[in-house]
Amino acid sequence: MAERLSWVPNEVDTGLPSAARIYDYLLGGGHNFAADRALAEKFLRAQPNARTIARLNRAFLRRAVLHLVDVGVRQFLDLGSGIPTVGNVHEIAQKAEPESRVVYVDYEDVAVAHSRMILEDDDRTTILQEDLTDPDAVLAGVRATGLIDFSEPVGLLTVGVLHFVPPEQDPGGVVAAYRDVVVPGSYLALSQFTSDLQPDQMAAVVAVMRGSANPMYPRTRAEITAMFDGFDLVEPGVVPLPLWRPEDGAVDEDAGRAGIFAGVGRKK
Ligand SMILES: C[S@@+](CC[C@H](N)C(=O)[O-])C[C@H]1O[C@@H](n2cnc3c(N)ncnc32)[C@H](O)[C@@H]1O
Repeated sequence: MAERLSWVPNEVDTGLPSAARIYDYLLGGGHNFAADRALAEKFLRAQPNARTIARLNRAFLRRAVLHLVDVGVRQFLDLGSGIPTVGNVHEIAQKAEPESRVVYVDYEDVAVAHSRMILEDDDRTTILQEDLTDPDAVLAGVRATGLIDFSEPVGLLTVGVLHFVPPEQDPGGVVAAYRDVVVPGSYLALSQFTSDLQPDQMAAVVAVMRGSANPMYPRTRAEITAMFDGFDLVEPGVVPLPLWRPEDGAVDEDAGRAGIFAGVGRKK
């Protein structure tokens, strides 16, 4: 039987696995198709910690957003926001500061359709269907929403997404384009898969993801740190993701298992 449920946009190719839906599956969500689940199972064979990694990434997102709210950020541009799941940015930010405003950006049909559905009655949050590697189009769309005041600090979020941007699309240049339109005192929160921590598992994951709509490009710590050009890194810098300001302050000896580096920087 064809999987055409009410939340499935007509234009979506259910046979081509997408990163958004694989991630949703790994997080225990229900917005994925048989092809996504099959590829996610291969992902799990390549990286048995994949479910934990997905949860750790969401936990980093939460800690980063709360930190930004704490330092006074009230507006967020979430690039590659994904399929809404537990603990979305607008929920985290608005629970802490109700006036917080969020513009989500994703190019994946299911992520956009589901986001639109849950945001229907929220006049401080919206989603744009755009490719984040086209900052001009994204920023024109953001301005049209009227939700972001570019004379005030903005929290730029690129969490778990830049490893889907190939080198020829110059992810550092893309980040710089967003950096250049926000005022000093704005922030960038970033997490991205690396080849430094678990090279064998990472190579196996890269091979699996070649069968999806989103091939992956892990990067070195130096390459990831370079994306913070123009920002002062806040403590503790670019670190294995569980070590970025853990809530209980605990030092996780196995933090490298996550295979992801994360950091937050403040625009100079
Ligand atoms: C692994 S999910 C991460 C979701 C969320 N940021 C998080 O960390 O929980 C990556 C998301 O980035 C989106 N994405 C990848 N490349 C993109 C691009 N060039 N433009 C817009 N979205 C993109 C995918 O569709 C997917 O929803």
